[in-house]
Amino acid sequence: MTKPETPARADPEPTEAPAGADPEPTETPVGAGAEPPGTPTGASLELRRRYTAADLAVFTRDEASRFVPPGDGDPEDDIALAWELLYRLEPELYDRLASAERLHPGVVSWLPRHVDQIAEVGAGTGRLTMELGGRGRRIVAVEPALPLRRILRRKLAAAGHGDRVQVIHGFFDQLPLPDGFADLVVACSAFTPSPAHGGEAGLAEMERVCRPGGCVAIIWPNHLDWLACRGYRYVSFPGPMSVEFTSLHEAVELAGIFYPQAAGEIQRRGSRKVPFEVIGINPPRDLAFKVLAG
Ligand SMILES: C[S@@+](CC[C@H](N)C(=O)[O-])C[C@H]1O[C@@H](n2cnc3c(N)ncnc32)[C@H](O)[C@@H]1O
Repeated sequence: MTKPETPARADPEPTEAPAGADPEPTETPVGAGAEPPGTPTGASLELRRRYTAADLAVFTRDEASRFVPPGDGDPEDDIALAWELLYRLEPELYDRLASAERLHPGVVSWLPRHVDQIAEVGAGTGRLTMELGGRGRRIVAVEPALPLRRILRRKLAAAGHGDRVQVIHGFFDQLPLPDGFADLVVACSAFTPSPAHGGEAGLAEMERVCRPGGCVAIIWPNHLDWLACRGYRYVSFPGPMSVEFTSLHEAVELAGIFYPQAAGEIQRRGSRKVPFEVIGINPPRDLAFKVLAG
C-alpha cells in the first residue's frame, strides 16, 4: 500500500499522510478498481414509489431544465429524479439518512489543511461541509435545493460555523464563483458524469474555480474510469464501516425506504449500527482527485 498523494499547494503539509494510525489508504489511478455504485444508484424501488409525476411541480425552471427529461419524467422510472424530489419534498428525511452514512475519517483527514478558500458543490445538508469548518479561512457551499440549504445553514449556525461558511445557490455546470477562487474544490456524493449532476461541463467548472496548484476532489465517486480518463487519481481508506443510525427504530424505518432489501436483516440483527456489507452499497471511504498544474 502507498501513502496518498497529497494535493500540491503552496501551503504546508503537502506530503502529509491522513491523520490517525489506521491502515494506510490505497492509492491507484482512478479506474484501476471496480466501479462502486454510489448512493443514488443504490437506492430503492420504495424511494421511486414515494413520488409521482405531479411532484415535479416542486422544481424551479432551472432545476427542471437539468433534472426533468424532455417530455416529462416519472420518478417511478427514474431514480435520479426521485432523489431530487426527496431533497425538496422531504429534506429532513434525507438529512437523517446522510447523517447516518458518515464518511470514513480518513477521507476528511486526507483533504488539504490550512487552505485559504474552499468551494464545495452539491453540499446538501452538510455531511462534508460540517467537517470542513476548521480547514479553510472561508468556505463556500454551493447547493441547488433550497430546503437543503436551509437545513445546512441551521446546522452551521448551531455549530458556530455560520460566519465562516457561506451557503449559496448554484449548479455544477454554472458555478457562481470566479476563476481560481478556491484552493480546494470538492463534491461529496454529488458529482456524476451525467450532465444533470455535473458531467463534462460540471467538471470543467470545478476546475475553473480551482486555483492553479489547487486540488479538485470528488468524494465517494462513481464512474471511476470516466474520472481516470480526465486525469483523476483514486484513494480508498480501509477498515470496517457501518451506517450509524440514532436508534434501531430509525435503522428499521430508514432501511424500509432506502435499503428495503436489507430491512429484514437489520431487524434481525437488532442493532442501530449496520455494516455497509449488510446493505450492499459501497461505503463512503474513497475519493478521486486532481491537482491542477501550478
Ligand atoms: C446525495 S446528495 C449529497 C449531499 C451532500 N454532499 C452529502 O454528502 O450528504 C447530492 C447533492 O447534490 C446536489 N446536486 C444535484 N444536482 C446538482 C447540480 N447539478 N449541481 C450542484 N449540486 C447538485 C443535490 O441537491 C444534493 O444536495
